[in-house]
Formats: sequence, structure tokens, C-alpha cells
Amino acid sequence: MTNKISAGSTAGNITAESIGHEFERRYGAGASVYTAPGRVNLIGEHTDYNMGFVLPAAVDKGIMVAIRPAAGPLSRIYSVDYDSEITLDLHGGESGSTKSGSTKSGDVPNDQWAKYIYGVAQEMATRGRSVGAVDAVFGGNVPLGAGMSSSAALESAFGFAFNEMFGLGFTLAELAVIGQMTEHNWVGVRCGIMDQFISLHGRAGQVLKLDCRTLEFEYKPFSPAEHGYRLVLVDSMVKHNLSGGEYNERREQCEEGVRIVAAHHPEVQSLRDVSPEMLERYRGEMPELVYRRCRYVVEEIARLVDGCDDLDAGRYEEFGARMFETHRGLSQLFNVSTPELDFIVDLARSTEGVAGARLMGGGFGGCVLHLIRCSVADAYLADVQAKFGAEFGLVPRIIEVVISDGARRLV
Ligand code: GLA
Repeated sequence: MTNKISAGSTAGNITAESIGHEFERRYGAGASVYTAPGRVNLIGEHTDYNMGFVLPAAVDKGIMVAIRPAAGPLSRIYSVDYDSEITLDLHGGESGSTKSGSTKSGDVPNDQWAKYIYGVAQEMATRGRSVGAVDAVFGGNVPLGAGMSSSAALESAFGFAFNEMFGLGFTLAELAVIGQMTEHNWVGVRCGIMDQFISLHGRAGQVLKLDCRTLEFEYKPFSPAEHGYRLVLVDSMVKHNLSGGEYNERREQCEEGVRIVAAHHPEVQSLRDVSPEMLERYRGEMPELVYRRCRYVVEEIARLVDGCDDLDAGRYEEFGARMFETHRGLSQLFNVSTPELDFIVDLARSTEGVAGARLMGGGFGGCVLHLIRCSVADAYLADVQAKFGAEFGLVPRIIEVVISDGARRLV
């Protein structure tokens, strides 16, 4: 109860039963059902690939997959959401995919969704452990493009299922790296480890503070309702897509800043090792944009550490103020916001009782995460829907989530 996030509509209606039924209809009996969740991240954005900290939690929305080993060599995988079935060799090579009668062939699947599954199998093989053939049906209820990591949920669901079904013996942290490397090598997004890590390690009622340099982590109880607050997600309705290249460009700019500082301090390996003073000292050697990107990250890493102290002490107003600061940095220094996201955060800032709000995830669209006093939440949400609707002609979706467990077998 204490982990409720917002009120309102959610996308999709997939359950373990409905996925199981669809599997039975197509491929017969005997499937197991696995799930892996999407996530929220309270604070610590674009810090994971800079070896800083993140503070995510798994949510009650994600991907479900009904799956059973097949005689092979080919696997049949059906996506409920795309109404598309693909037949492929998980050891390398696709023999065909059908949707409305179309068939295609090639080594790597053309369908974007299939690349994630194929990539996971290839990354496992690269590590010396092979996946057998499967029949599988999957679907999701994590809103696509809302910045809640539907792709990490897909990688984690299949990774977890393959690992268990074929007794591969990967740890959860290794599965997270496999999912992350699927993004790098098969999708083209050089993401950090946060989304896959939390999808596999999430715990009901807890946020996870992850040190992305060592992968050490600790769980922290998170119960805003006990303090009179609600966490609310408002979807800006701008679909974010990190494969467009801007995300990788931000990462390269951070790496460029590290190279410039490391030329003077060989011990510096990432922005985690760069202090605000060091950054100012070498500012003159950096392109202005590189400086701004680095400054945001260095500040955000420190902000997360202070924010954790606030949460531990129950200082929700102070934590919320840091969320506003994160948004300012993401918008003005890191430049990953949009007019829609800024509009929502500006309204939040000027509303009494909204402790904090910021864009969540990689940016370029997706959701605004809010921390709001329960007493004003409903009125604020009605207001944001009306005013955003008047400005942009679309009513933003309110997404309710419950902080939940990570990847697991359901049936
Ligand atoms: C995306 C990436 C993560 C992380 C966030 C920003 O969700 O997948 O690795 O970098 O953006 O914090």
C-alpha cells in the first residue's frame, strides 16, 4: 500500500493467465511463465555509464513470457503486442517472420523486438553457454516509449528464463551485463547498467542504491505514503527512443571530458573520479558543451548521495527539491528535456504541495516523476491534465505503479 505510485490508467492488460492461454492456443501445453519488470528511478540520471550511483526501483509493470524448450533447431517466438511471429535460430540465423503474410530472411532478425531476444542468446553464447530452441509467447504492460525501460524488461525476462530453463548458471548481475551488452552490440544504444540491473534485482517496497562502478548495492525501504506523499508519473506523450543517437552522443561527450581531465590526473577513469574543482580547473581546455555535460553529471552524482541521506532521515521536502535541481540540470546543462517535459515540471514547481518533479530516464520524451503531498495530488493531476491538454492538444497519461519484485518465474 505504501508503495503506490499515482492513480489512473495503465497500458495493456497482460496477465500470467492470458499469456499462458495464448501460448496454449499456439503451441500447446507445458509452458512456464516468467516476468521481468520496468522501473522508476528516484534520482541519479545519466550517472550509471559515468560509474556513479543510481536509485531505481522495479515496478508492477513489465514483460511476461510463456516459454517451453522446443525440439529445435528453430525457435518460434510470438509477440502479442506486435501480433507478429518469428521463426529463428537462436544460435545465429533467422528463417522467417510473418505478419500479415510477409516473410523475410537474414542472419539477424529485422524486427526490432526480436533483436533483443536474439541478442541475449548471442551474448550468452559469447560467454560460452548456449541457449537451446524454444517456443515462446510474450507481451507487456509497461508503456512503450514512456522511459520505464520496456526493452530492459524484455532482455531480463528472456535472459532470466533462458538461464533457468537451460541451467546456464549466470548470476543476476551477469544477466544484467548480458542485457546491457545486448543493447550495445545488437541494438546500438551504449546504455549503462541501471535498467537491466534493477529489472533483475528489484524488491517489493524497496529502492536499490547501486554503485555502478563496483556493482555493490543496498536496498532501502521506500514508503512515501507513510510520510504523506505520493510518487506520481505523468507521461508527456512524447515517445522517447534512445537509439536515435543523442544518448550515445551524451555518453561520448562525458568520455571526452574524462579524457581531458585524465591527461592531468592519470588516476581518473570516469566522471565519478572528477571533483567539481577539477572540472573548473580544466574547463578552459574543454568545448563548452562538454563542460556542461560533465558539470551536470558531477553534480548529479553528489546530489544522489545527499538525496539518500534525505530519504534515510525522512526529509521528503528536501529530497523533492533535489529532484527539481536534477531536472534543471537535465534540461539546461545536459539538454535532454523537451518543451512538454519542461511544461509539466514548471507547473509542478509553481504548485504548492508538489515537493519535486523531474524527467525520468534517458530523456527526449517519456515521463515526469513527481513527489507530491497526498493532500494536493488529485487536484494537481487534474490541473496538469487540463493545462497540458490546452497547450499541446493531448491529455497526458497518469501512470500508477507499485514498487515490486524483480524478474521471476510465475508459473
Ligand atoms: C536509459 C539507459 C540507462 C540510463 C538512463 C539515464 O534508461 O538505459 O542506462 O543511462 O537512460 O539515467
